[in-house]
Amino acid sequence: MCGIVGYIGPKSAESVLISGLKRLEYRGYDSAGISVISKDNKLETRKKAGKVSVLVQELADLPIAPAHIGIGHTRWATHGAPTDRNAHPHIGGSHHRLSLIHNGIIENFASLKKELSAAGTVFTSETDSEVVAHLVAIEYDKLQDLKQAFMVVVRRLEGAFTLLCIHQDHPDVVFAARRNSPLVIGLGQAENFLGSDVAAFIEYTKHAVAVGQDQIVELRSGSFQISDFEGNPVEAEEFEVSWDASAASKGGWPSFMAKEIADQPQAVGDTLMGRISSDGSVNLAEMADLAKLSEANRIVFVACGTAAYAAEAAKYAIEKWAKIPVSVELAHEFRYRDPVIDDKTLVIAMSQSGETMDTLMAVRHALSEGAKVLAVCNTQGATLAREAHATIYTHAGPEVAVASTKAFTAQVTAGQLIGLVLAWQRESLPIVELKKIGLELLTLPRKIKEVLDTAASMGELAKGFADAKSVLFLGRNIAYPIALEGALKLKELAYIHAEGFAAGELKHGPIALVENGQPVIVIVPSRLGEGSLHAKVVSNIQEIKARGARVIAIAEAGDSETGDYADEIFFIPETMPLLAGQLSVIPLQIFAMELSNAKGLDVDQPRNLAKSVTVE
Ligand code: F6R
Repeated sequence: MCGIVGYIGPKSAESVLISGLKRLEYRGYDSAGISVISKDNKLETRKKAGKVSVLVQELADLPIAPAHIGIGHTRWATHGAPTDRNAHPHIGGSHHRLSLIHNGIIENFASLKKELSAAGTVFTSETDSEVVAHLVAIEYDKLQDLKQAFMVVVRRLEGAFTLLCIHQDHPDVVFAARRNSPLVIGLGQAENFLGSDVAAFIEYTKHAVAVGQDQIVELRSGSFQISDFEGNPVEAEEFEVSWDASAASKGGWPSFMAKEIADQPQAVGDTLMGRISSDGSVNLAEMADLAKLSEANRIVFVACGTAAYAAEAAKYAIEKWAKIPVSVELAHEFRYRDPVIDDKTLVIAMSQSGETMDTLMAVRHALSEGAKVLAVCNTQGATLAREAHATIYTHAGPEVAVASTKAFTAQVTAGQLIGLVLAWQRESLPIVELKKIGLELLTLPRKIKEVLDTAASMGELAKGFADAKSVLFLGRNIAYPIALEGALKLKELAYIHAEGFAAGELKHGPIALVENGQPVIVIVPSRLGEGSLHAKVVSNIQEIKARGARVIAIAEAGDSETGDYADEIFFIPETMPLLAGQLSVIPLQIFAMELSNAKGLDVDQPRNLAKSVTVE
């Protein structure tokens, strides 16, 4: 939530900041702004409510001075409405020489604001962030040392913050600080960058440095220094970014969402790459870091939203293959209810961004209780990866559309890999069975591609539902979390009320919702799956049809029975029942995307949302 970018070097600060903000816009799009220090040492700022495109228009109408240092911000509003005044950067002090941007929430801002107001400071916004800008400016006026002033202030702050600050008396340095919010440095040739994540500067450099908790950065064009909040130097952790810039651009697709849905064969293929050998055996070297993993007596996933549904989908496979109890906890509920965990619990934190505050807080709690923590994360340099004992990266590439698609299929795949490794370690299934699963996993990228090749029909169908008031999703077993994910995608992208249900739960209440014409999307289990689940779900279809539902079925190729009852049917290729989630979710993603397009909505940046929820 909120994207920040900083630059110092020979390029035009304005163009580096704007391109960084465009890449970070998925983190929030309530307002955007930049500050630069011109060559004749004048601080200039432009900021506007609305998306980065509105700021770009403002810069065209009211050009900003050419400059080689600057900071930029795209906002997801917390304190104060999304207005021009509340947009960042905020100017500190009565001389208007300092500019500051902030991602996070300053929890003690009210008392700090009171103190400043009593001393005569006049505020121009309702934000918590402006308080910090004034504090640093006032402290600087006292100390005449920007770094000391910045340090004195950050030590007083409570809550979550990434802060970037420039001062026109010091046109050769950007100061930054972070606590509980993300920050990475990008290292270039005689130029350096700061960003909420590597997407901010991926166009210019792949050489990056992760900034740790409670650290301060002093960034100059040819050097950088990291210290703690007391000023003690801290060693930098450098890494190479594996994403390339083209992966974070639309590349001719009408939207990032369309591109990312189409990227899924590669996202899943890359997540499997090097981890399953050609004979089907699995090797997740990252898990070797988790000493005595096979001694864990249960697994608890902590995650939010789509990532939690991916964990739910993985749960079915892990329990079945590795015979270990698995539960999935919404991270924000887990953290605040004294969960029973100990050193025999393996906590797996699933997070695309690795910055979701709810998930991070759950992980910190689990660590404090002695649990082993494994992260499943898509973003290099993310806080989650730094705090967990070990990390398995999903290699889905940058996910820019706010609603998650390719990260989901990659997360489910990573969860299945974990299940497979545990099953090998625990010898819970014969090796021949495990190799068979490994080999079937390797077929998934091809099968996902087959689904995509035939998915246009699902898109066409979706257009007919633009006036729907509500859509229900039914699934059972592995398809239950897929139904939940399908419903979430529809809510997020098309603003249509949607609910996912376990098909078996239907008769226990939800069937009361079914009336004439009610659209219901049913994910039908494989005929090869558990017991008679296929027959049971086909019966469910008949029950809702009898009450007037309009049924769209997602069924496996060769299922000749379901079509007799459903109004529409979309086939996915055959696979092992536990692996079918990565296939059946694709038509649901396309359904939601095309419905959003049909309603003329912004499919990449749905209203009220931000990717990377970095506040609790
Ligand atoms: C929905 C979506 C969110 C995220 C959730 C967790 O489309 O994207 O529900 O899945 O906010 O985000 P990460 O995976 O970054 O922790």
